[in-house]
Amino acid sequence: MCGIVGFVGKNIKVDYFIDGLKKLEYRGYDSSGVSYDDNGKFCTIKKEGRIKDLEKELGDIVNKNVNVGLAHTRWATHGGVSDENSHPHTNEDNKISVVHNGIIENFQELRKELISRGHVFRSSTDTEVIPHLIEECYRGNLLEAVIEAIKKLEGAYAIGVIHSEEPDKIVAARKGSPLVVAGNEELSIIASDVTPILKYSKEVNFINDGEIVELFGNNYKIFDLSGNPIERKPIHIDWDEELAEKGGYEHFMQKEIFEQPVSIKSAISGRIKNGQPCVKEIENIKSFIENDLKKIYVVACGTSYHAGLAFKYFMQNHSDINVEIEVASEFRYCNPNVNKNTLVIAVSQSGETIDTLEGVRLAKNKGAYVLAMSNVVGSTIPRESDSVVYMNTGPEIGVAATKTYTAQIAVLYSIGSQIMKWKNQYSTETEKIIKDIENLPEIYKKVLDNEDHIIELAREYVNYKHMMYIGRGTGYTAALEGALKLKEISYIHASGYQAGELKHGPIALLDESFPVFAIVPFNGLREKMISNIMEVKARKARVIAIVTENDEKVIEIANEVIKVPETSEDILPLTVAPVTQLFSYHIAVLRGLDPDKPRNLAKSVTVE
Ligand code: M6R
Repeated sequence: MCGIVGFVGKNIKVDYFIDGLKKLEYRGYDSSGVSYDDNGKFCTIKKEGRIKDLEKELGDIVNKNVNVGLAHTRWATHGGVSDENSHPHTNEDNKISVVHNGIIENFQELRKELISRGHVFRSSTDTEVIPHLIEECYRGNLLEAVIEAIKKLEGAYAIGVIHSEEPDKIVAARKGSPLVVAGNEELSIIASDVTPILKYSKEVNFINDGEIVELFGNNYKIFDLSGNPIERKPIHIDWDEELAEKGGYEHFMQKEIFEQPVSIKSAISGRIKNGQPCVKEIENIKSFIENDLKKIYVVACGTSYHAGLAFKYFMQNHSDINVEIEVASEFRYCNPNVNKNTLVIAVSQSGETIDTLEGVRLAKNKGAYVLAMSNVVGSTIPRESDSVVYMNTGPEIGVAATKTYTAQIAVLYSIGSQIMKWKNQYSTETEKIIKDIENLPEIYKKVLDNEDHIIELAREYVNYKHMMYIGRGTGYTAALEGALKLKEISYIHASGYQAGELKHGPIALLDESFPVFAIVPFNGLREKMISNIMEVKARKARVIAIVTENDEKVIEIANEVIKVPETSEDILPLTVAPVTQLFSYHIAVLRGLDPDKPRNLAKSVTVE
């Protein structure tokens, strides 16, 4: 997740930018850079690596006094990690400098048009189209030029712009990515969140989507997209800097759970539009898929495996495309049946899991085409695969996978529906599912509104020693993930089962000391799940049912009920995930454990 800091005022030291970037380090980054005014011109210095590498490059410049500047930490999405791809990006004569957080979906089209009009590009980023567009729109007023230019952008952005002909000003705009502004007697400051700001002011204004802000001297003004001023009083922030890093949440895990309305939007951005898949990253294998593909094989571990399993159900439910899945540590040793007609999808949020990496190597040796899915640009699995689709959720700091899991499912469904389309198997039913995915940001807001109810349940269940999660179909994959989340951060023993398997063994465990989470879809397998709930109740075990909103029957029979909005059954793992994540999170906190750093676990598992 990129970070932006900008200052305007008198006698701002270049060091202020470095200090601001350091406050944003927790967001994750792979390069950084700064642009500042230098005797009527802009100087831009950027560096791949850590902020200390940028500091080294700047040397004594850190003590220099400037009047305006922008700085950035980049977390690569479009274009590899390099000095050239780092921000700020400038137009050719370096008069305009831009920092950006987000993804410009139509950058390829814009880039082509700009090149045809004579613009020369220096990076392979989506961002670089912005300074060139602003240059074309500039007629002596930066605010007007930015308003005109951003109307051409599709996707998500927070941007900061400076122009050497108006060296007393920053213009910034937001659509989908965060931006906060503040001022004091000496300067005004813009940033991706409040952490770099708190040192200068606790009175901040959160910029909304579709708003532009002009910062000058020690003040700022907010405008709408038509250039009309917006009056809004700043909000007083009481947080200390540590709390601010976590956006006011107690832990990164909680913050990341609550980021899902935004992270899911970012993951599907440019991959799904109006119920149709449009996954550009796999266009190069369209002919392979149409003519040669006989099987898809998913290889992954842990939570990523659960996302892959949901994908397998989805593909099976809606196409005749053969999908197999194996845990990566087994795949390596089970002599998997893959060959040149197989598409292997290696799913790994970190991109570094050694078992999955070895699976990639094996699959390539056997002649398969390997597509990586990762959240970390430039990580090893994408580098060793034939191509990659990045999840674009921003870094996940908590060890437990939360927002990356839901992004994985959404991106896998996008890829799967794209494949169905090319195989002429894209039905209206699948289109409905894809539309449900597009609605997830709104659905997530509703689900997350239930946190208080989930906290109450966590209080009630915190002292149990075992729990079971049951479901059928995609509900089974949600059960597996719910159980994994609980055991890894609360250390309560939990297992996930296909509800139909209960009577083949696990039911022997059940009594009043063994609560069961039942994941109940609205249609399809609902009646079967109700029978399983009755079996559980007959053994005196308590039932916590996750049901769709109007399921009165289950509401009557379960001991506890958590409601999620009604969607197609394939979406169940996506709607249920924030509930089971929050439940596990609050149980861990109530037990006095640190959910961000569970014992014995690491964020990327690079040992066998
Ligand atoms: O980085 P990966 O997605 O390859 O990681 C796979 C598993 O190690 C990971 O999902 C693990 O299960 C997490 N702790 C889940 O929260």
